[in-house]
Amino acid sequence: MITPEKDCRLCGLCEGRTNIVLPDGDPGSRVVFVGEGPGENEDLQGRPFVGKSGKILEDAMAEAGFGRSQVLITNTVKCRPPGNRDPRPEEMEACRPFLVSELEGRALVVGLGKSAVRDLMGFDGKMAEVTNRVTEIDIGCTRVNFLPTYHPAATIYNRDARAALKDAMRIVKEYL
Ligand code: URA
Repeated sequence: MITPEKDCRLCGLCEGRTNIVLPDGDPGSRVVFVGEGPGENEDLQGRPFVGKSGKILEDAMAEAGFGRSQVLITNTVKCRPPGNRDPRPEEMEACRPFLVSELEGRALVVGLGKSAVRDLMGFDGKMAEVTNRVTEIDIGCTRVNFLPTYHPAATIYNRDARAALKDAMRIVKEYL
């Protein structure tokens, strides 16, 4: 895996960040989770999915019988977008070489939410149309299995989405 320089200035997100948020978990895992981008807690701690979304994700994993230390967790961009806005295409593009190096050769890539699904799968429709259907995507010069599912934050007030996220974790377990 390649990582950004400590003082990375490849895109404008460097202006507002406290910490670059690098992948967390098992670097050799067969499975990698890709979120949208760091939020406030992640920016402060320099670790992905440590806030409310992280708790939801960890609970769903635990229910399926695995933990975050068994997978790799990363984001499409490694620095927090101001006010938690969606990452812009040029910001994702600047961070892409790092992401590609994190995803190449995995048995399964899990896209958490619309931004990751749009970026990795090129799908910009309703999440319900693709959720939990494993498909193949191109990553660098390779093809990998891709599981699009809901972002944990999207499941806070949506029971069906929460149930779908839990189903997704059961699919993930089969790949571990
Ligand atoms: N939401 C994300 O998409 N990524 C994080 O790391 C935290 C919250």
